[in-house]
Amino acid sequence: MKAISSFSQVLRVIAVAGLLFGTATSAQAQQTPLGLDNNPTARPMAGLTAPSEADMLRALQGVKGNVTIPDRKAGTLVQPQGRDWRATMNSTIRSWGAWLVFGMIALVTAFYLIRGTIMIDGGRSGRTIERFNEFERFNHWMTASSFVVLAITGLNVTYGRHLLLPLLGPEVFSTWSAFAKLLHNFTAFPFMLGVVVMLVLWIAHNFPNRYDWQWIAQGGGIFTKGVHPPARKFNFGQKIVFWSVMIAGFIISLSGLYLLFPFWFGAMETQQLMAVLHSIFAFILIAVIIGHIYIGSLGMEGAFDAMYTGQVDERWAKEHHSVWAAETKAGAGDD
Ligand code: HEM
Repeated sequence: MKAISSFSQVLRVIAVAGLLFGTATSAQAQQTPLGLDNNPTARPMAGLTAPSEADMLRALQGVKGNVTIPDRKAGTLVQPQGRDWRATMNSTIRSWGAWLVFGMIALVTAFYLIRGTIMIDGGRSGRTIERFNEFERFNHWMTASSFVVLAITGLNVTYGRHLLLPLLGPEVFSTWSAFAKLLHNFTAFPFMLGVVVMLVLWIAHNFPNRYDWQWIAQGGGIFTKGVHPPARKFNFGQKIVFWSVMIAGFIISLSGLYLLFPFWFGAMETQQLMAVLHSIFAFILIAVIIGHIYIGSLGMEGAFDAMYTGQVDERWAKEHHSVWAAETKAGAGDD
C-alpha cells in the first residue's frame, strides 16, 4: 500500500514538474488544453497511471501570478477549487434541490389526499373581523408575486437546460432564458423591499409566546379534526414561515446583490460561496413557501380571505386564533 502511494506521489511530482516546464507527461494532458477540461471528474484512462490534469492543477494549488493592472484577480489563471465548486453546484445542489422541492410537493399532495381541506368546524358565521389592512395585503402580494417570479426564473437557471431545452429547442430556450435572467435581476428589488416591510409590520407578532408549546404539542391541530390549539395573531407554524422568509430572504438578498454586483469585496472564493448560499437558501425557502401556499389556499377553508379581502370569518378566527380573536373583539369594544 505504502509503495503504491509513494509511487503515485512520485508520479504526481513528475507530472507537476512536467507542467511547470511546459512538457506534458501523459497523452491525456497533451490532448486537453489547460483550463478547457470541462469534466471535473476527469481521471486518466484505464491503464494509464499518470494523474489527470485536474489532479495536477490541484497539486499546484492553481496557476497564479502577479499582474500590474488594478484588477488583481486577473493574476489567477487557473483556480482548481472552481472545479469542486462547479461539481457542488451542478450535482449536489441540483439533486438536493430537486428532492426538497418535489419532496415538499409530494408531502403537501399526500397531506391533502389524507386530511383534505381543513374546514371551519362550526361553518361560517357570516360575521367578519379585519385581519390584514390594505397596506399589509399590498405588501404581501408584492412580496409573494415577486418571489414566485424569482423562484421560476431561478429554477430555470438550475434545471432549465435539462427540462426545458429538450422541449423548447435551443432558440426558444435561449430567448426565454435571457428574458428570465433579466426578470430575475429586476424582480429581486420588490422582493427585498417587501421582506423589509413585512419585518417591520409583523415582527411584533412573531416572537415566541406561551401558546407556542401547546401548538407544538397538539401538532397545530392540523392532523386531528376538531382540535384547535389557542393562538394569538400568528401561531407557531406561521412564525416558522415568517422567520424563514426573514432569515432565508436576508441571506438570499445579500448573496444575490453580491452576484449582481460581483467582487465588491473578497475574491473568486467569495463569489463562489455567495452562489452556493444563494442556491441553498433559495431551495429551502421555495420548499417552505410551497407548504405556506397550500395552507393559505386549498388547505384551509377561510384562510385565503385574510389576504384577499382582509376580513376573516369570526368562527375561523375563534378556531384558529382564539386569543387574537378575543383580544381584537375586546379592543373593538365588542363582547
Ligand atoms: C402565492 C401564493 C400565496 C398565498 C395564496 C398566500 C396566502 C397567505 C395567507 C392567506 C396569509 C394569511 C394567513 C393568516 O391569516 O393567518 C399569508 C400570510 C403570510 N404570507 Fe403568504 N401567500 C402566498 C405567498 C407568499 C410568499 C411567496 C411569501 C414570502 C416569500 C409569503 C409570506 C407570508 C408571510 C410571512 C405571512 C405571515 C405569516 C403566515 O401567515 O404564515 N406568502 N399568506
